[in-house]
Amino acid sequence: DQIFAILGTGSYAPERVMTNDDIATVVETSDEWIVTRTGIKERRIAAEGEMTSDMATAAARAALADAGLAPTDIDLVIVATLTPDMPMPATACIVQAKLGVAPHAACFDVNAACSGFIYGFDTAWAMLQSGRYRHALVIGAEKLSSVLDWSDRTTCVLFGDAAGAVVMGPAPTGSTAEIIGARLYSEGGNTELLCIPGGGSNHPAPAPGDPPRHIQMKGREVFKFAVREMDDAARDILEQHGVEADEVSCVIPHQANLRIIDSIAQYLEIPVDRFYINLDRYGNTSAASIPLAIDEARRVGRVKPGDLTLLVAFGAGLTYGSALVRW
Ligand code: ACO
Repeated sequence: DQIFAILGTGSYAPERVMTNDDIATVVETSDEWIVTRTGIKERRIAAEGEMTSDMATAAARAALADAGLAPTDIDLVIVATLTPDMPMPATACIVQAKLGVAPHAACFDVNAACSGFIYGFDTAWAMLQSGRYRHALVIGAEKLSSVLDWSDRTTCVLFGDAAGAVVMGPAPTGSTAEIIGARLYSEGGNTELLCIPGGGSNHPAPAPGDPPRHIQMKGREVFKFAVREMDDAARDILEQHGVEADEVSCVIPHQANLRIIDSIAQYLEIPVDRFYINLDRYGNTSAASIPLAIDEARRVGRVKPGDLTLLVAFGAGLTYGSALVRW
């Protein structure tokens, strides 16, 4: 008998580190303000000319090596991103070519902002379960530095660039990293809370008076939504699968803000030391944050075979979602 599992993980972060002190030379802020309000100490910034597809390809290559598979074994590539290389074609197609994935693979992007990885993960899982695809690469990759307003201290301090990837496919029953469940949600109609208002088909050619092509956010409202809906999504998936909160060995949340994570830990009554946290080193990398954290958590031994792991995210949309994996 077979199950579906995560067969390998990989990640990539650009070399350039931007500390809070570095940001304080660009906008009026301080290391103290950023650390106490968010927990972020530094983030990575992509090099000039380094594209989302380059970061995605590097993370995917590492995940394939970890899985012991070749690019030609992959027949489905999903890239979750809100910062594609260009509006068309999909970054997944560009990654397919850079990586050398089989020519007949299905390749497309998913945009669910910071929930994008969970959206791609559930989509890939369903496509594998259909029996029509065998091995999927799900990649979260973002060059958020390209959509930040570097004069707006309420947003530019929060984000960073990175990529993370997983290979998913069939495995014999009893294998590690079994995918147990996933669930996606959206509450549309809250566009103005978190968006990039300009640059889409409403404003095709840049003209004076256009809305900005940078991330705009109402931080406090997003904060409240994040806590409420990540708590809901986590409870929902645990209940669906008959799992008690204290059976969860590790929670890998979207890495947006340490205070959001602290609040969810309290609501769920799961000790915060069971949450894997790396936002201090990367900031919020949107769709890349969960696969980057999964890969790190595995490499440092924070998730071990048999551990029940809860993934939970929220993002613009507003979207949210959760998934359960038994390592
Ligand atoms: N440095 C110094 N001061 C600042 C900064 C900064 N970087 N940013 C804001 N301030 C000031 C404000 O101007 C304000 O000053 P005022 O009181 O004189 O008006 C004061 O600090 C407090 O601002 P608040 O916005 O109330 O601060 P808050 O404690 O809410 O923290 C934050 C702001 C960190 C943005 C928080 O609301 C938050 O984390 N929200 C969630 C955001 C989030 O996670 N977004 C991710 C979205 S995921 C996706 O899909 C992209």
